[in-house]
Amino acid sequence: MNSRLSLWSLGIHLVLWYCHLPAEAQVKRVVPGLVVEPRSLDVDVGLDVTFNCKWVGYQPRAVSWTKKGNSTVLSNTNQLHLKSVSQSDAGQYMCKALVPRIIAEKAVTLTVNGPPVVSGDSVQYAVRGETGEVKCYAAGSPPPDRILWAWKDEAVPERYTVEQSKVHTLGGAVLSTLIINSVTEADFQSPFNCTAWNAYGPSTMTIALEETVHSSSFLHVAKACVSDSRSRRADVGGFGAVFGGG
Ligand SMILES: *[C@@H]1O[C@H](CO)[C@@H](O)[C@H](O)[C@H]1NC(C)=O
Ligand SMILES: *[C@@H]1O[C@H](CO)[C@@H](O)[C@H](O)[C@H]1NC(C)=O
Repeated sequence: MNSRLSLWSLGIHLVLWYCHLPAEAQVKRVVPGLVVEPRSLDVDVGLDVTFNCKWVGYQPRAVSWTKKGNSTVLSNTNQLHLKSVSQSDAGQYMCKALVPRIIAEKAVTLTVNGPPVVSGDSVQYAVRGETGEVKCYAAGSPPPDRILWAWKDEAVPERYTVEQSKVHTLGGAVLSTLIINSVTEADFQSPFNCTAWNAYGPSTMTIALEETVHSSSFLHVAKACVSDSRSRRADVGGFGAVFGGG
């Protein structure tokens, strides 16, 4: 009788002990989720950068890093290393992780500080005797605070009406337009320099003006490639275009 009771009691204890385990495990269980550290980085050009991506609660089966807008896989480990970053590395990076039955994605933002990035068509077109335009775009972090046009070393010709240059934002970049009132042969012979400045210094782009015979050939002026790698908006208020500043 006693031994039967003891066995019964032992059995109950075993059942209680067994049931207790998963309950305790449940208390300690972390809510699974994708964590990327740091969430964003703001570094100077030339530095090395590392982002970490991990799935809290599980070891993910697969991790992949890509840059937003580009399907090339940059890393298949938890870490994304970028060596000696340049402004072209700025943008959003995506970490994608796969755990059983779940795929999750998280984005991190990389900001690269350095001299402005000046872009535009290196060859632009104008018709002799007509009004011509030379355009350049400036973007970057920090945003450019002035854009200067330079052409030859001689005095500023009257027909260069730089004060009429249009300057406005376009996807975080600034467009600067030099207007030539009446294009002459000399404009096709010397290149134009578009120079943008910020706290890190200047960046220059040299643009050659080529002659087209018919106005319809202005269609040749292709849309400039504007880097939209940054979300920060340039402050237009501080802009001024100055001619002959070379
Ligand atoms: C995508 O990224 C790779 C590696 O960085 C680069 O070589 C390639 O040019 C990029 N493609 C586009 C369309 O930007
Ligand atoms: C234009 O830029 C080039 C290259 O940076 C430089 O050699 C040249 O002196 C510049 N011209 C003017 C007029 O500033």
